[in-house]
Amino acid sequence: MNAAGSLELAAEIIQRGEIVALPTETVYGLAGDALNKAAIERIFAAKGRPADNPLIVHIADFADMYRFWAYVPALAAKLAERFWPGPLTMILPRKPGVPDYPCGGLATIALRMPKNAFVLELIRLSGGPLAMPSANVSGYPSPTTADHVNRDLNGKIPLIIDGGRCPVGFESTVVTLGERNTKIRVLRPGNVSVEELAAFAPCVVDSSVTKPLSKGEKALSPGVLYKHYSPKARVILVNGSETAVRNYTESNFPEAALILNPGGDIYDVLRGADDDGAATVIARTPVLGRNGLAIYNRLLRAAGFDEIFLECDKYQKKRVFGLTGMSGSGKSAASRIFAEEGFIVIDCDVIAKLVVSPNTKCSRELQQKFPDFFVCGMLDRRKTAAAIYSDAALKRDYEAVIYPYISFLVIEKILSVPALTPIILDAPTLFESGVNDLCGGVISIVTTKVMAISRIMSRDNLQKEAAVLRLDAQHSREFFAEHADFFVQNDTDNLSAFTEEIRLLAQKIKRGLED
Ligand code: TXA
Ligand code: MG
Repeated sequence: MNAAGSLELAAEIIQRGEIVALPTETVYGLAGDALNKAAIERIFAAKGRPADNPLIVHIADFADMYRFWAYVPALAAKLAERFWPGPLTMILPRKPGVPDYPCGGLATIALRMPKNAFVLELIRLSGGPLAMPSANVSGYPSPTTADHVNRDLNGKIPLIIDGGRCPVGFESTVVTLGERNTKIRVLRPGNVSVEELAAFAPCVVDSSVTKPLSKGEKALSPGVLYKHYSPKARVILVNGSETAVRNYTESNFPEAALILNPGGDIYDVLRGADDDGAATVIARTPVLGRNGLAIYNRLLRAAGFDEIFLECDKYQKKRVFGLTGMSGSGKSAASRIFAEEGFIVIDCDVIAKLVVSPNTKCSRELQQKFPDFFVCGMLDRRKTAAAIYSDAALKRDYEAVIYPYISFLVIEKILSVPALTPIILDAPTLFESGVNDLCGGVISIVTTKVMAISRIMSRDNLQKEAAVLRLDAQHSREFFAEHADFFVQNDTDNLSAFTEEIRLLAQKIKRGLED
C-alpha cells in the first residue's frame, strides 16, 4: 500500500497491538507498539528472531530519552541534538519501570529517532514509540524496498507501507557510551560515521565490527552472535585491486556473481544474486570512505568472516603511514592532529620502551649482550643513550637486537586496528627499524637545526651538547626529504600554520584512500 492516506490505517493497526512494515531512511522496519507485549511477540514471531536479540525503540520526541533511559548523559543529549532525527541508535541503561520485553531481557534500551516523516507522524498518531527491527526474515539481508519485505513477510503481517527505496540502504549506526559516558563505542557502523562521532568524543570501533567473537568472549550486542545479512548464496569477500579480484574470480569461481565495488544498495545486490540463482557471490572488500566500514561490516558478516587477501597484505599496508623526522620537529603535535582526524596512532617509542621493560625476552637478550647498560637488572636508559649516541657501531648492534621485537609488536597492533581505519606509525627511527616496510607511505617532518636543538633541550631537559649529539646521530634533513612521500617543513614557530598544514595533509591522505 502507498504511504499516502495509509497513516490512519497504520496507526489503527498499531493501536490494536498488531504490526506494520514501513520504510525508514535506513531500511524497512517492522513496527509495533513498544509498550505492548503482544505486539513485541508478533514482531519476534514474524521475523523468526531469537528472543534474546533486543529491538530498537523508535521515538519521535526528544523528551522520550528521559522516559526510557535511567539518565541522559550530556554526551548522549549532544549526539541526539546533532544526529536525530537520523541513522543513529544509542544504547543506555533502561529506566526502572520500562518493560524488558523489547530489550531481550537486557538492562539497557536502544533508542533512535528515525528521519522519515511517515514514521514520525505514525509514532505521534498511534500514541507511542515503536519497537522496530528490520523487516526481513531473521538472518537474511535487510529489506530496502517494499518488494523485499513482501517476499520475506507476505501473509505474516496485515500491512506493508510502500515508500520507495530507502535512501541510506543499511541499518543505523549503533553506539554505547563508556568510561562514565565520556567515550563512544560503535557496535554497528552505519551512515553516521566514526569521524562524525569523533568530533564529539573519543570514539572506538568495537572489535566485533570486523572480527568474529573469540570463544568465551561476551557480546556487547546480541545481534553480533547471529549470522546476518546473508543471502542463500555463499558470500566470499576478496581483498585486492579490481583487476586482481576479477582475475581471481574468473579462474576460481567463473559462475559467481561478482560485486567489484560494493556500496549503494548492497542488500538489493545480495538479494538479486539469489534471484539470479547464483551459488556464490564474490564481493571485493570495499575501500575506505564514508560508508566503507558499514558496508565492509555487513559483507564480512554475510560472508561469515570469510575474507581472502590477494596481493594486498593482511593488514592493508596502503592505509598505514610512517611518521618520522628528526627529534624536535613536531611529530608528537602532528600525531595528535592525525588522531583528531580519525587516524589510529601507534607510538613506536612507547613500544620500544615496552620491549625493553624488565623480564621481557628482549631485555634478557640485551642484558646478555650489553651488561654495562643494566643497573640492578633494569635497563638504564640514560646510560644506554649516552653510550649508543656516541658510538655508531654500538648503536647498530644494540638496535639489531631490539628492532625485530618492535616490528613484531607493531604488526600485532596494526592487526588489532579495525580494517579500513587509517594508521599512523609514529617512529623516529622508521627506516633503521625496518618498520617502514609496513607502511604504504611515509610522512617526514623536519625543522631547522637551531629549532630542533632548543626544543630538545627544553623538552628533554638536556644540555646543549647532549642535544647536539642526539641530533647528529639522526638522519639529515636531506635524507628525510628524499625518503618521504609527504615532506613537511616545520621551520618556524607558527603552530597554527603547522597545525593547518598537517590537518590538510590528513584529509588529503584520507581522500586518497577512498579511491
Ligand atoms: O536502521 C535501523 O536501526 C533499523 C531501522 C528499522 O530503524 N533497525 C534495525 O533493527 O536495524 P535490528 O533489530 O535489525 O537491529 C538492532 C541491533 C541488533 O543487532 C540488536 O542486537 C542491537 O541493535 N540492540 C538493540 N538493543 C540493544 C541493547 N539494549 N543492547 C545491545 N544491543 C542492542
Ligand atoms: Mg536486522
